[in-house]
Order: sequence, then structure tokens, then C-alpha cells
Amino acid sequence: MTQPKARDTFTTRWGFILACAGSAVGLGNLWMFPWRLGEYGGAAFLIPYLFFVYILGTTGLMGEFAFGRWAGKGAVGAYDKAMRERGLGFGRLLGAYPVLVLLGVLVFYLIVTGWVLRYFVSSLTGAFLDAGPSESYFTQLSGQPESIGWQFLAVIITGGILVFGISKGIERATKVMMPLLLGLLLILLIRSVTLPGSMAGIRYLFVPDWSYLLKPITWGMALGQAFFSVSLTGAGMLVYGSYLKKDFDIPNAALSTVTLDTGMAIMAALIIMPATFAYGIDPAAGPALLFITLVSVFQNMPGGQFVAILFFLGVLFAAVSSLLAIKEAVVEAAMDQFSWSRRTSVLLTAVVAFLCGIPLAVNQNAFDRFVDIITVYLVPVGAAIAGILFFWVLGIKTARAEVNIGSEKPVGPWWEPVAKYLFVGVALAIIGLSMAFRIG
Ligand code: TRP
Repeated sequence: MTQPKARDTFTTRWGFILACAGSAVGLGNLWMFPWRLGEYGGAAFLIPYLFFVYILGTTGLMGEFAFGRWAGKGAVGAYDKAMRERGLGFGRLLGAYPVLVLLGVLVFYLIVTGWVLRYFVSSLTGAFLDAGPSESYFTQLSGQPESIGWQFLAVIITGGILVFGISKGIERATKVMMPLLLGLLLILLIRSVTLPGSMAGIRYLFVPDWSYLLKPITWGMALGQAFFSVSLTGAGMLVYGSYLKKDFDIPNAALSTVTLDTGMAIMAALIIMPATFAYGIDPAAGPALLFITLVSVFQNMPGGQFVAILFFLGVLFAAVSSLLAIKEAVVEAAMDQFSWSRRTSVLLTAVVAFLCGIPLAVNQNAFDRFVDIITVYLVPVGAAIAGILFFWVLGIKTARAEVNIGSEKPVGPWWEPVAKYLFVGVALAIIGLSMAFRIG
């Protein structure tokens, strides 16, 4: 007879917080946040963003961590357990939704991480510095078969860490990567803001254009960005919560995650925009900012190769530590539902994500549309479903009690309406609004 093995857990408080920060800080911060901040009103965008991320983000994270810990399972198992508790069915079907969304996130994330790998390698060799216009260097890669090999490398790295499980895989890797990432960002920040002419970039980021607050698109983007950035889809952080011990302080972890995530997003903006302005390059490149605009900056900057190595290494750490969380949600669901071993689940998830990515890797238009649909519409819907199940179906009293187990500063009764009405209500309202105005 085989004994069911005890569930792997995070072993230390910092290990968990760094794993969560690793999940949260990713391409959302380094790639998307700087251009969205510039594009949607600068400091004006920060108002809805900070509100969503601090009020709804922390609430949602507490919910996901506690929901996972309560169930001892990831999304599929947890949703099933919550529905059964109330004599209802279809929990697994509901739980499959966020897991499939995360499989979609995994697909595009692996492709972009592949680009980052190629840029990292070519900054080591110095190849892109002499490659001529940075634009053509990017278009030779994105949407082209060459990117498939790099995507494959991203699959191998992520799978190679995940087969070791939680304490020996995710926790160890993020404990190394996250402090290094912070150090790299600090060095880059100092380099960027001390470039002559960098002030214009700071002004671009932080001088508010209040008229953006009257546009629904600003609010929809801010919500989608906030939820994506702190990894709220109703599955990713939930599965991390399922590896938590009962004595762990959830409200504190949620707040730390949001603070680290927001801090690093603002640092990324303060690295990218001042450098872009200092070299007189158009800052409104959108998604191309990281891979085209910034490369021109490195080509022109004295010592640019060295700065590029540090920069792409940082982006790589951020991307890989997020990939671990994204993929773990899918892997755990496969292990739990089909009783597969960790190794089989990691391998099959890798194969599926890699194969699904190929058509997108070679078609840039399809890729762009795919990213928008997933990040702006599908991700927040998952977060709202998890909120409905935990705060409404299971019940807000149980939810708050679960959040507070092991907490030094338990959340008071005020938290109940915030979670039940504000989190779920605002999330649903903004998702509806974005759909009505067809953002993305
Ligand atoms: N938050 C990460 C980023 O900003 C991406 C991410 C990791 C994510 N895990 C997730 C997004 C779970 C949604 C759900 O890049």
C-alpha cells in the first residue's frame, strides 16, 4: 500500500513572501507597466492603479491564500470543496476555468521569456550592439521560427526548477533570484536617472494628465493591470496558499506582496522612461518598448553592453519566477485531478504549452490579440469567480476566520464588506465596463 505523501510546504516566512513576490513581479511590471503608465495619463493612471492594487489586490490575495490553505488544494480541488460544502455541484468545472486561463498565460509568457533569453544571450556576446537598427533585430525574432528555439529553452528552465517541487524548487530558486533582481534594478535605476536629459522622462511619467480619469479605458486598464500584476486569477496565488502552514500570517504576506510588486513596477518605469528620453527616442512604443526602444538606448549608451546584460538578466529572473507560479497552478491541477506524478504533470504541461505556443510564436498579430484578451478580460473574471466562491458561497465569516488564522494583526469586521461587496462588485463592474467599451 502506498501512503499518500504529505503535501510539500513552504518552509519559511521569507521563502513564501519571496515566492509570491517572484510570482507577482514579472513581465507585467517590467514590460507592461511602464508603457501603460505613460500611455494612460502618467500620475493620473497611478490613482486608479494604486487604489485597485492596494485595496482590491490585497483583499483578493488574502482571499486566494486563505482559500488555498483552507482547501489544501489548488483551484480545481478548492472550488470543488467550497461548492460541496454548500451541497452544490460544478465546482471542478468552475475551477477548470482559471487553470485554463493560466495555461493561456503560460503559453504567451513562455514566448516572451524566450525573447528575453535571446536578448540576454546576445547582450553577453555583444551581438545586438552591432546588429544595426534595433527594430529589425526584433522583427527577425518575433513572429518568426527563430523564436521557437528560445521558447523551448524557457520551457526547459521552468520545468527543470518545477520538478523539484515547492520547498526544494520554487522556494530555493526565488530566494536567490528575487534579492538579485532587486539589486539589479537598483543599479539600473541609478544609472538611468543620472543620464543627462533623464528629467524629461521622469516628468513624462509623473506629470498627471487628469483628463484620463474621465475615460473608462483608464479604469479598465488599471484594473486589468493591477490584477495581472499581483497574479490574481483565482488560481495562481491560490495554489501557493495551498502550500502554507496554519501558523502563517496571511494579511501580512498579502500586503508585502503588493508593496514589493508596486515598488518594482515603479522602479521599472523609472529605469526605462528616463533612459528613453535621455536618448531622444519615442517613449510611446507600447509593447515594443522593452525589445526595440530600450535596445536603441543600449546601443547608444557608453558601457551599454554591460547595462544590457544586467537589465536582461533582471528581466529573466522576473519572468522565470513568475513562470514558476503560472505553471505550478496547471501542474498541481493535473497532479490532483489525474493522480499523475509531479514529473509527468510538469512534462505534459510543458509539451502542451510549447505546442500551443508555436502558432502564436510565428504570428505576431495573433500573438498581440491573444495577450490582450487574456490579460484584460479573462484574468480578472477568474479573480472574481474565486471571490464569489470564497466570500459568498463558502461565506464571508468563514473566509475572514481563515484569513486570520496565524495572523498577528487579524483583519477586523470592516474587512467583510470590503471583500464581499467592494472586491467582487468593483471587479465585476470594471470587467463589464471594459467589455462594453471593448478595450484591447
Ligand atoms: N504577475 C505576473 C506579472 O506581472 C504574471 C503572473 C504570474 C500571473 N502568476 C500569475 C498573472 C497568475 C495572472 C495569474 O508578470
